[in-house]
Amino acid sequence: MTDKGLVNTEHPAKVEHALKEAGIDVAVYDEVRVEPTDESFLAAARFASEGEFDGFISVGGGSVIDTCKAANLYSTYPAEFLTYVNAPIGGGQAIPGPLKPHIACPTTSGTGSECTGIAIFDLLAMKAKTGIVSRRLRPALALIDPTVTYTLPDRVVAASAFDVMSHALESYTALPYSKRKAPARPSLRPMSQGANPWSDLGCREALSLAGRYIVRAIGDASDHEAREQLMWASTLAGIAFGNAGCHAPHGMSYSVSGLVRDFCPDGYPQGEPIVPHGMSVIVNAPSVFRFTAPACPDRHLAGAELLGADVRGAGESDAGEVLSGQIVSLMKATEIPNGLSGVGYNADDIPALTEGAYPQRRLFENAPRDISREALSGLFQDAMAYW
Ligand SMILES: [Fe+2]
Repeated sequence: MTDKGLVNTEHPAKVEHALKEAGIDVAVYDEVRVEPTDESFLAAARFASEGEFDGFISVGGGSVIDTCKAANLYSTYPAEFLTYVNAPIGGGQAIPGPLKPHIACPTTSGTGSECTGIAIFDLLAMKAKTGIVSRRLRPALALIDPTVTYTLPDRVVAASAFDVMSHALESYTALPYSKRKAPARPSLRPMSQGANPWSDLGCREALSLAGRYIVRAIGDASDHEAREQLMWASTLAGIAFGNAGCHAPHGMSYSVSGLVRDFCPDGYPQGEPIVPHGMSVIVNAPSVFRFTAPACPDRHLAGAELLGADVRGAGESDAGEVLSGQIVSLMKATEIPNGLSGVGYNADDIPALTEGAYPQRRLFENAPRDISREALSGLFQDAMAYW
């Protein structure tokens, strides 16, 4: 599986050639939609059902990998579409058994989807993003080749790099596992368990790499060292958030991308408005971390320091400002849009953005502070512009 933007590049061709050399029959599906929808998931699932395949290979960014997870699921265990979708929007039913082998080959250094059991899509009828979450969706194998990032457009590197940064910051500051009610048995643990010592390892290293390489990787396509290190950061942050879970910047991003009017940055298919996932996340992040810092100031300060901020003399009450300031300075240095106003929203949109995002309870309940409807509206307000 791949998408139209990639199908004529060397990467899908290399995979197809290798499979044929090994005597394996291959069918190529290139109809994946960038920022997939329920319709595009279903179209891929129909292709998968008709082909009766023994396994799947995804070659692309998060959209391709997520679509491949969904196609694998619905062709293996056919069901009405909403059956496995997260409650309360969907039925939230458990996937009945193992899926077919799926080898994920990411071509962007961002989503970390190759490491997670999460598939995200736009539910067109509700104009909202939601997803399917299950350990069963996790690919059997990920082949991570950083050389694929050498030819990525700089805006794609930018959007995916800030997605990585936010995965790591959100997982590092998520409500820790030790502050939740323990399930009756270990096997009943949710996939997103909150911050824990294992996810902290990936977060800290991903943040340190992002702080060192994000500006270099975006500014200079020939800086292969920087692009390779961002791919490694993406993988580490993917392992971390697949385990700890993201929180409010991602929860808010769903309505930011779902309600898009006319924004479309360079490097993405033109003619159709899109707020790329990483941008729809990072425009919320400085506002959120100012709000969440009082819950765990030490972690917010440590995150800022790992990203390269000078934290000498900073106390607990400065943590939110220091971390937000560091994110904003990296956004400015890489020409990321200036908050929600930079991707086409104004104050009149706050009620719709709030209503669109509020149902993402899985994510907001993973935040270290309670986020009421009023608090969420305030977070969108504070995310309008940063400079
Ligand atoms: Fe993300």
